[in-house]
Amino acid sequence: MHHQTPGSFRPRIHFTPPQNWSNDPNGLYYDRGQWHLFYQHYPEAPVWGPMHWGHAVSQDLLHWRHLPVALYPDELGYIFSGSAVLDRNNNSGFASPVLTPEAADKTPLVAMYTSHNPVTHLEEQSLAYSLDGGLHFEKYYGNPVIKNPGLQDFRDPKVFWYQPEQCFVMVLAAGDRAYFYRSHDLKQWEKTGEFGPGVNQVEAVWECTDLIKLTAPDGEDRWALLVSMSKSVSSPTARIQYFVGSFDGRAFHSSQTQTEPMWLDFGYDNYAGVSFNHYQPPLFIGWAVNPEYAAKVPTGDYAGMMTLARRLALLNTAQGYRLSQQPVGLDHLRAASWPVEQAGALMGAGGFGLIIKGSQGQVILSNSDGQYLTVTITPQWLELDRSQAGATDFSAAFASQRLSVARVARYPDCQSDLELIFDVSLLELYADRGLAVATLVMYPDSPFDHLQLSGDLSARQYQLA
Ligand code: FRU
Repeated sequence: MHHQTPGSFRPRIHFTPPQNWSNDPNGLYYDRGQWHLFYQHYPEAPVWGPMHWGHAVSQDLLHWRHLPVALYPDELGYIFSGSAVLDRNNNSGFASPVLTPEAADKTPLVAMYTSHNPVTHLEEQSLAYSLDGGLHFEKYYGNPVIKNPGLQDFRDPKVFWYQPEQCFVMVLAAGDRAYFYRSHDLKQWEKTGEFGPGVNQVEAVWECTDLIKLTAPDGEDRWALLVSMSKSVSSPTARIQYFVGSFDGRAFHSSQTQTEPMWLDFGYDNYAGVSFNHYQPPLFIGWAVNPEYAAKVPTGDYAGMMTLARRLALLNTAQGYRLSQQPVGLDHLRAASWPVEQAGALMGAGGFGLIIKGSQGQVILSNSDGQYLTVTITPQWLELDRSQAGATDFSAAFASQRLSVARVARYPDCQSDLELIFDVSLLELYADRGLAVATLVMYPDSPFDHLQLSGDLSARQYQLA
């Protein structure tokens, strides 16, 4: 038996930190051909600790170049999650030549984040600006810019430029609801509204809220509110809920009629995800490890990874508008795909994509250690089972039935080929035109190098670069 050393769990086309701990994606933005990813990072150990913002850039959203740590804890506390926005009109005045002679004609990049006091746990909103694309940040002397109004949980500001009213808008996770603010200069904020609580019967601590503009199939603007819901009595594990509705410049209003919550992902490893600023259509990245066991995963000197970047769209289904997600940047890989046998060896074991046709059957990926992952496909539902797919003993939660098997009802009017992307230790499954999507981590002792298809399923394979 050959056992994978911890380092060999690193995926090929998914972001992982150079070493040590990572969680939420932060400050996602696009500028002149470059995608920027900041992320919650503890650079001293592979477990959660005093939070910094790590930084990486990519030109294809598949391969990332690591840059120096962008934000360090300070006297206001740890640097919790937040966003980054380009201040193109210099409303903030941070590109004023009076402050710094070389600042004239620069565009300030403004990072808004939560200052979390590690002793009192007080959470307030702060900002820092950069004039060199996020390499060097200066913290604003007037921090915090939004004081805590007396809430235990008050964090994760998502700021974006709101064109119709020429102002910045912020959505913030405030306990059991979202708060909305607006500002002209990013320093002075006026609260304009709230959304929640208790919507769709799910009560949990709200985290990493994001308000996203989408063009509906009828050509109208619609908005989706993403809410990462922590584990609670009514939310059996941490996951992302979304609402579809409208935004009037002051608050989000849900236009949903059904009361069943809508979940972004039916796997267990997609949390705290948000979208990129300055790019349409919206692209989303999530933290691809469940917080319940993220500090225990057997990956050695690093912990945490991100989902692929996914294009978000609204589709009109029999049940109403639903969010669809499609991975971006894979077209050139798919173009080189080849048909595979119903049972046989997988090439490029460890990292591969499968495009699966058919309506009923099973896909089994296995290795020479007798471990396997099962995907069951029926016209009514999809099910993933990772209970036999590798190490489970590192966490009782990971090993539990609750987090081993994931199942979702299908969208009969939106069925399509399935796409399965397996990247060493991370599986992403896309079905029904991106309406049924699952993200699941697993840690096989040796690479999955064998595929078996049953029922009426057939597949093409491609290799992950
Ligand atoms: C979500 C979260 C955020 C917080 C950050 C701290 O995973 O709890 O609400 O800002 O992680 O690392």
